[in-house]
Amino acid sequence: MGGYARASLYYMSGTGNTFRVANWMADEAGRAGATVTTESLEQAHPPADGGEGKLVMLLSPTHGFTAPWHAIRFALRLPRGRDAHAAVVMTRAGSKIAGRRLPGLEGTGGYLLAGILAAKGYRVRGVLPVDMPSNWISFHPGFKPASVDDIVAHAAPRARAFARDVLGGRKRFGGFIGLLLGLVLLPVSVGYLLAGRFLLAKFFFANNRCNGCGQCAQCCPTATLRMIGRKNPRPYWSLSCEGCMRCMAFCPTRAIEAGWSWAVLLVYATHVPAVMFLLNRLPLPAAWAEALSAWWIVALLQYVYLLVSMVICYGFFHLMLRIPAVNWLFTVTTPTHVYRRYHEPGTKLADLPPGRRKTASED
Ligand SMILES: Cc1cc2nc3c(=O)[nH]c(=O)nc-3n(C[C@H](O)[C@H](O)[C@H](O)COP(=O)(O)O)c2cc1C
Repeated sequence: MGGYARASLYYMSGTGNTFRVANWMADEAGRAGATVTTESLEQAHPPADGGEGKLVMLLSPTHGFTAPWHAIRFALRLPRGRDAHAAVVMTRAGSKIAGRRLPGLEGTGGYLLAGILAAKGYRVRGVLPVDMPSNWISFHPGFKPASVDDIVAHAAPRARAFARDVLGGRKRFGGFIGLLLGLVLLPVSVGYLLAGRFLLAKFFFANNRCNGCGQCAQCCPTATLRMIGRKNPRPYWSLSCEGCMRCMAFCPTRAIEAGWSWAVLLVYATHVPAVMFLLNRLPLPAAWAEALSAWWIVALLQYVYLLVSMVICYGFFHLMLRIPAVNWLFTVTTPTHVYRRYHEPGTKLADLPPGRRKTASED
């Protein structure tokens, strides 16, 4: 089958990479004569109108060698496909080091989303990983502009060719090596989805350069970043932050940092074996103590402890950062202080729609 009458592109994008790829593909769909809609996951309200002649494309960045929870949840909530066709595109961390272009690793991301779509009745026609410049600027500095331009220029024809093929009715499945490595790294991905992403969100803070403008909260795609404090508002990252880097990439005063020294303290505080310590000291009847010592109960309690201690520690950290000397200390002990920021060079903040805040009635 070729010649789709309609193409709906849904993308998640923190720093514009996936947005850019979605635009290349929408352009190809338009050229192929389809009526195209391009929407961010946060703004989209996909209609329940599947059927022949419709192509749904789901585009997402890779986080933790798989798809971010935000994209997985979107796929799970999509209306049933009713024989509509679908394709999945994962952008991943391309890099250029010592003049050589190196690929990222999308792992299980593409096929996980494709599997969800297939289970929903979509006929999956293709999966593609695309290397865009890595945006993980809480972890490494952004690449030099020349390297960024080179990676983007290399990605464009690949993404466009995929779109033309799928739109022309050809099946295009790639990323099998990535999938294989992703299966090996599955424990890392599961750990990332269950805990890592929450920890990453809790490394962010605003240094003394923050002027409380609130742009970060306004542009947050998951609408989870809030400004706290009336006189001297500062950004606060709640647990549903996806660590997409938009706030850090576009902050006008480069005030947003990911605290490495703070991360060490936080990981220590959330991983102390407090659960076993408490269980051993609670005056419980022997039968209870025995039942509670089952490995999965201990793991569950440890997980709850991790989330609760993370929120409490971060609240304390947030308060302490209001003391300029403490803020300075955490700032000079993280390299993100000097890191080059990254966002897709052709993408302005205004191009990236913010997340939808819940209305009072939805709360
Ligand atoms: C928290 C986080 C985790 C990431 N994990 C991976 C990964 O496991 N593999 C990979 O290739 N790229 C990874 N990346 C890089 C992004 O997937 C990649 O740069 C993507 O193109 C960003 O797209 P966006 O600007 O549309 O959000 C990660 C980025 C972030 C911020």
